[in-house]
Amino acid sequence: MAFIDWSSKMSVGIEEIDIQHKKLIQIINEIHEMLKTNSFEEKLDSVFNKLIMYTIYHFRTEEAYMEMVNYTNLEDHKKQHEKFVNKLKRLKSRCYQGREGIVVELSSFLSGWMISHILHSDKDYTEAMKKSDQHEELKKSA
Ligand SMILES: [Fe+2]
Ligand SMILES: [Fe+2]
Repeated sequence: MAFIDWSSKMSVGIEEIDIQHKKLIQIINEIHEMLKTNSFEEKLDSVFNKLIMYTIYHFRTEEAYMEMVNYTNLEDHKKQHEKFVNKLKRLKSRCYQGREGIVVELSSFLSGWMISHILHSDKDYTEAMKKSDQHEELKKSA
C-alpha cells in the first residue's frame, strides 16, 4: 500500500491539475519508499531534483490559470507556493548533515502540506476557475 493513496476527495474537478497532483503524490510516495527500503543514500539526490522540478512546473501551471481567471487570492496562493519551494531547497541544502533525518522530515512535511494545500487552496482557485467564462475553453483545450 502506498504512503498516500489518491482519493476522489482530492479531485479539484479539472483533469490536467488532478493528473499533476497525482504525479506529485507519486513522488512523495517514492520518497517514503526510500525510507522503507533504506535506499536514500543513492536515490535521494535524483528524487529531490525531480520533486523540485516537477513542483515548479506544477505551480507555474496553476499560477497561469489563476491569472487567466483573475483569481482574487492569487498573491496569497503564489506566496504559499514560493514558501514551499524555498522549504524544499533548504531541506535539500541540508542533505549533507544526514540523509535519513532529512528524508523523515521531508516525507512528513510533504504529505501534510500537499494534502492540506490541495484540499483547501487548490480547491478554492479551481472553484473560481469553474465559475469563470474561460472554463469551457479550458476543457476544450485539455
Ligand atoms: Fe497550489
Ligand atoms: Fe496544486
